[in-house]
Amino acid sequence: MSTETLQHQDQNQHRVTWTEDYQQRVNPELMTRLLRTAIPVLESSDWRIEEVDEGYCQSILPLNSPTTNQHGTHQAALISLSADYTGGLALATLLRGIPLAGVHRCDADESASLWLAGMNVKYRSPSSGHLIGVCRIDAKTAESIQSRYFSGNRVLATLEVNFYSNGDLVAVAEMKYFAQPTMQLTPTPGSKTHSALFSHKLKASARMIAGLRGRTSQNSRITVRSAESDLIAGPHGQLLANRLQSVLPQLTDMVLARTQHIDETLDGFVGVRQVVMLGAGLDMRSLKHAAVRPDVTFFEIDLPSMIAERKRVAAVLQHECEDRRVLLEADFRSDDLQELLNSHPRFDPELPTMFIYEGCSMYFSEQENRQMMDVVRKLMQNPMSCLWVDFVSLDVASGKTNNRNVAAFLDGMEELGEKFIFGVDDPGSWLTVSGLGLVETTRCGDYLCESDMVFNTYSFAVAKVW
Ligand SMILES: C[S@@+](CC[C@H](N)C(=O)[O-])C[C@H]1O[C@@H](n2cnc3c(N)ncnc32)[C@H](O)[C@@H]1O
Repeated sequence: MSTETLQHQDQNQHRVTWTEDYQQRVNPELMTRLLRTAIPVLESSDWRIEEVDEGYCQSILPLNSPTTNQHGTHQAALISLSADYTGGLALATLLRGIPLAGVHRCDADESASLWLAGMNVKYRSPSSGHLIGVCRIDAKTAESIQSRYFSGNRVLATLEVNFYSNGDLVAVAEMKYFAQPTMQLTPTPGSKTHSALFSHKLKASARMIAGLRGRTSQNSRITVRSAESDLIAGPHGQLLANRLQSVLPQLTDMVLARTQHIDETLDGFVGVRQVVMLGAGLDMRSLKHAAVRPDVTFFEIDLPSMIAERKRVAAVLQHECEDRRVLLEADFRSDDLQELLNSHPRFDPELPTMFIYEGCSMYFSEQENRQMMDVVRKLMQNPMSCLWVDFVSLDVASGKTNNRNVAAFLDGMEELGEKFIFGVDDPGSWLTVSGLGLVETTRCGDYLCESDMVFNTYSFAVAKVW
């Protein structure tokens, strides 16, 4: 993490008073609502936070039908669940002014990531009343946690959560948490290994897109069928796809429309010899297309942990085109993509090539996207070569949309750690600045013959060099 970010977090701690922090970030009502949204089982069990202070949290797990077992007492595992969030919130109160990734709406460079590293729960007697969970962090431990966090070090804290039912101590949980500025989990430029949390986040959004590709559409314009998408997405991707689809009902059609539009562009590209997938994620179209295009080589580029996931998924799918797939690890933010491709013995910039930059532009800054366009233009040395790219509108990227469903979707993406930060209203003009003219722009709503304006906040562009 940069010194600047650290100073920013440190200043936050001193600028915000406890009263303000309580009101804006960690009060019981707000935290109960946010945690229940993020972890639905807390909602179904009616779990809630009762009291919060600096280094202190008290929760309640009611004795009700969803929380009990056949004896009418609390299920042991739910006591552990309550311990996790009671201790976690007591720890979070010490990170004054710092939003929690996955819980509060926030950017990676200002938030803290907390996760449970281990737990040891001693169940002393059956819990046969509402269960009060209490975590109180002593002053010395609290000071050491704050001093480590605000000087940029990872915190490993062991906290005790005591559980009372009908006034008796029924369980004692020893909880070990990590807390760290989220930025530190983002790989430093050039690093080939990623933290488990960062890799998880990457996989989550790629699986979610794969999950959406596995869904069906009511729109008659959509004929694409991604038969293996459920297998690619797995239960994780399907779950996230269902969750985001429920907040933005247009989402499946948007993703299926872009999938189909890319297929049509590729099908219409007579003489294509190379396809370069930039930020390939879990788009496994290379397997399908390689099977019917023996003279095309597919270059699939992504971060190392995503390339590893692609290999794992490809091994599960039936295919016989391994010889025409080239998997390349690259970090667009730090690696020289032009050099990577130009120096690859199987890549030839003079061959007719289709570059696909799908579902990516919204996650990179304008400068990073501009750089990507410059690289692609330099690699498009055949006049037939083209780039396929999608953009969200400026309003969507800046969060100024007045559509409630779109706003809820953007919140959901932010919770996944995948905030939209870039959009354009006129892809043609934007691409022209990078020397990519001859742009054909298609608004998603026009493509789908949908009058709902949400669809037209999303566009596809196919561009060639002037
Ligand atoms: C939302 S996914 C889209 C994946 C795929 N194109 C699709 O439509 O299914 C964005 C992709 O960008 C990749 N990505 C994110 N940051 C990257 C970086 N710095 N360098 C290279 N790829 C990156 C992610 O790993 C992920 O696979």
